[in-house]
Amino acid sequence: MYTQSFNVPDADAPSGAPLKAVPHDTALQAHFDAVIDADGKIEPRDWMPEAYRKTLVRQISQHAHSEIVGMLPEGNWISRAPSLKRKAILVAKVQDEGGHGLYLYSAAETLGTSRDQMFDALHSGKAKYSSIFNYPTLTWADVGVVGWLVDGAAIMNQIPLCRCSFGPYARAMIRVCKEESFHQRQGFESLMTMMQGTAEQKAMVQDAVNRWWWKCLAMFGPPDADSPNSVQGMRWGIKRISNDDLRQKFVDATVPQAEVLGVTLPDPELKWNEARGHHDYGQIDWDEFWAVVNGDGPCNRERLATRVKARNDGAWVREAALAHARKQQQRAMKEAA
Ligand SMILES: [Fe+2]
Ligand SMILES: [Fe+2]
Repeated sequence: MYTQSFNVPDADAPSGAPLKAVPHDTALQAHFDAVIDADGKIEPRDWMPEAYRKTLVRQISQHAHSEIVGMLPEGNWISRAPSLKRKAILVAKVQDEGGHGLYLYSAAETLGTSRDQMFDALHSGKAKYSSIFNYPTLTWADVGVVGWLVDGAAIMNQIPLCRCSFGPYARAMIRVCKEESFHQRQGFESLMTMMQGTAEQKAMVQDAVNRWWWKCLAMFGPPDADSPNSVQGMRWGIKRISNDDLRQKFVDATVPQAEVLGVTLPDPELKWNEARGHHDYGQIDWDEFWAVVNGDGPCNRERLATRVKARNDGAWVREAALAHARKQQQRAMKEAA
């Protein structure tokens, strides 16, 4: 669903090893700089500075983790969807998120890190993923609001990543963004239906909006003044638009949608600023945000435990698939001999 919109350092998570030891060479560095300056693409076979590679491994793996952990809050509602149609849509959406995780793990693997290393970092709590998925989905309206606001914030953040300087990441994002836009629209449409329903249904939507709004604003990461890594990310063509600018774009795009829907966004300071040509909005609770990022959200432990259990429960499938692949390979070699 979703990218970690900002780069938080993982607690000494492995960042993979270079594919081969490459001596630092000024000619290679100059070529890399020229490609970046020309807005070209760096591919896995190309020389790249170690810091660029490490930054990408961290960002892409955090993004991949966010996609697969992001399957859990909505997965919670698959068995309780109110109709066959809503269930089919939700199954498809959650499956899309699993696919996003797979593209992204594959993109990170091209940088020399293994999937096992990335999973170990996630499961041991060293690697970060998006803080938003550490909140519970309490009612069916949360599923619609997650689609509308969380996937909406993800699109804002991921569209500039389609132009990321690292080829495999940029190409994965093009496909991901197409699916995210479906996710956002299905969420909005589901809420629209509820808002034409009973007073209880409308109240349920408003309650979900109240609980998710501020967390979605925090998804874009700390204010620019507190994001020292952003400048380097911009220089490398990894990050294209700053956290605050993306957040502003999200607020400006969402306010008219909330009006169409007939819900109130829970911020008394939210108002159009004619001089700036943007909406002003209130203060985000960054203490809460950092507490959740650092493991103390309402569902952090539950989410990790679910992922670890899934990994352990699936061990026999991976073993069987590997044994089957080995057998096929041996047979092919025997036939070729
Ligand atoms: Fe996704
Ligand atoms: Fe999504």
